[in-house]
Amino acid sequence: TAAEKDGYPHFMIKEIHEQPAAITRTITPRIQDDLPDFSGDQIPDTLFDGAENVTIIACGTAMYAGMVGAEFIQNRLKMPVTVSIASEFRYSQPVIDEKSLVIVVSQSGETIDTFEALKLAKQYTDRTLSIVNVKESSIARESHYVVYTHAGPEIAVASTKAYTVQVAMMYLLGFKLGLMNGRLSEAEAKEKVQALKTVPAHMEEVLQYEKRVKELTSRMVNAQDAFYIGRGLDYRVAMEGALKLKEISYIHAEAYAAGELKHGTISLIEEGVPVIAIANQQKVYEKMISNIREVKARNAFVILISKDKAIDDPTICNVHLSIPDVPDDLTVFETAVICQLIGYYTSVGKGLDPDQPRNLAKSVTVE
Ligand code: G6P
Repeated sequence: TAAEKDGYPHFMIKEIHEQPAAITRTITPRIQDDLPDFSGDQIPDTLFDGAENVTIIACGTAMYAGMVGAEFIQNRLKMPVTVSIASEFRYSQPVIDEKSLVIVVSQSGETIDTFEALKLAKQYTDRTLSIVNVKESSIARESHYVVYTHAGPEIAVASTKAYTVQVAMMYLLGFKLGLMNGRLSEAEAKEKVQALKTVPAHMEEVLQYEKRVKELTSRMVNAQDAFYIGRGLDYRVAMEGALKLKEISYIHAEAYAAGELKHGTISLIEEGVPVIAIANQQKVYEKMISNIREVKARNAFVILISKDKAIDDPTICNVHLSIPDVPDDLTVFETAVICQLIGYYTSVGKGLDPDQPRNLAKSVTVE
């Protein structure tokens, strides 16, 4: 009913707006003196202590949240991480043992493939931890340990707030893991936690771009294909961005590691094809800009997301969305919001119902 939507036309846009509060609710109980603290979740330090590698298992959007976490844990903490699609993990040979920390991510806690993959992982290690949104769900009960995200009920089929709270939780768990394994000093962890605490406010700022994003989706509604490009963490969030567009606007979208474009996909770039280019990682910024110039030179319609104050260079982009300047790792939250808004308004612009996409279910309990 309209009342449940709080005056918003769809659940999806309501849930997009709920994200800053959901993140605050999720992280606050796990922060003590600006350090990660999972004692309230009954997670013993021994879960992290001595863990030598990490395997993340999930499906769909939860898997993409896991990919962001993996990129952080591997590149900042220098720990080996594997991300597995649950339906693949189940039928592959797991290379995990008691030194492996297995993190299972699921909004519903009921996805059958994720549940079965968890059961399989438990045959190899006692270190299984689930990140789940729905209390007392099957996955929450089956894992050795659980940390609940506090997104609140997510009604729209396309996941939004559940994703960003999963990412926030992955970061907090990463900080804890880093501290326990001597890969992050207390001072470094504090600095990271303090930065994470500013995320909700920065997401609020990005939500102010709603009208602008809505306007620019008039350039998307007639597209056959769209591309999301980035490097590093930006590539990981690009995958989720592309999924949002596919799910609810039915436009074919692909996420590409920007450096890989020249190995095939650039042949698909022609006049007017929307390219959402994400350039928030300092380390690869120059490389990214040159990749963007390559697609722009082929007359793509480039929407650039970056921390630059203003870019008004027609050889780079058609539209520039400047996001608040936060540490590179945390830009994923801001980028995610923009991608969600692009997906939502493209769907609405096509006259579709973003809350009820064809063929998709909120929770998948078939294999
Ligand atoms: C379905 C939903 C997705 C979700 C995926 C995993 O495909 O439509 O939004 O990401 O399942 O669901 P889970 O509840 O395990 O996170």
